[in-house]
Amino acid sequence: MKKIDPEQLIAQAKAAREEAYAPYSGYRVGAALLGRSGRVYTGCNVENAVYPLCTCAERAAVVKAVSEGEREFIALAVVTENGGAPCGSCRQTLREFGKEIVVLIADTSGSYRETTVDQLLPDSFSATDLTRNVKRETGAL
Ligand code: THU
Repeated sequence: MKKIDPEQLIAQAKAAREEAYAPYSGYRVGAALLGRSGRVYTGCNVENAVYPLCTCAERAAVVKAVSEGEREFIALAVVTENGGAPCGSCRQTLREFGKEIVVLIADTSGSYRETTVDQLLPDSFSATDLTRNVKRETGAL
């Protein structure tokens, strides 16, 4: 398993933030997602004149990674000007791929805190809940 280099992952997220397309909110976000393979997938927020279509940086990184064949993740770094935490949708999107993913929440000065998807989204809903439901419906439980 690839070891996490927090400073390096945060630097990659910070570089991705430079690409943010945020003309409406002005709030620029960068993310870098470390896969089990060792590859890093970056993302930035991409806004739209139709506001609900805005894409978050974290989800951009997940979509990029999964569409390139990576499904297991070690860590995600997210960088904003003020160290803002990932939104609920991004937490759930990350949860799909594991509770143990380390999340580094950083600001542009480089200071950061370390947490996990499980800490950010406790008592979460996941594929196992659906499996239980299917088993109940079919009488297997
Ligand atoms: N944003 C992210 O990219 N990630 C988050 O977790 C929170 C919010 C973006 C969406 C929008 O472009 C801007 O920040 C303001 O909400």
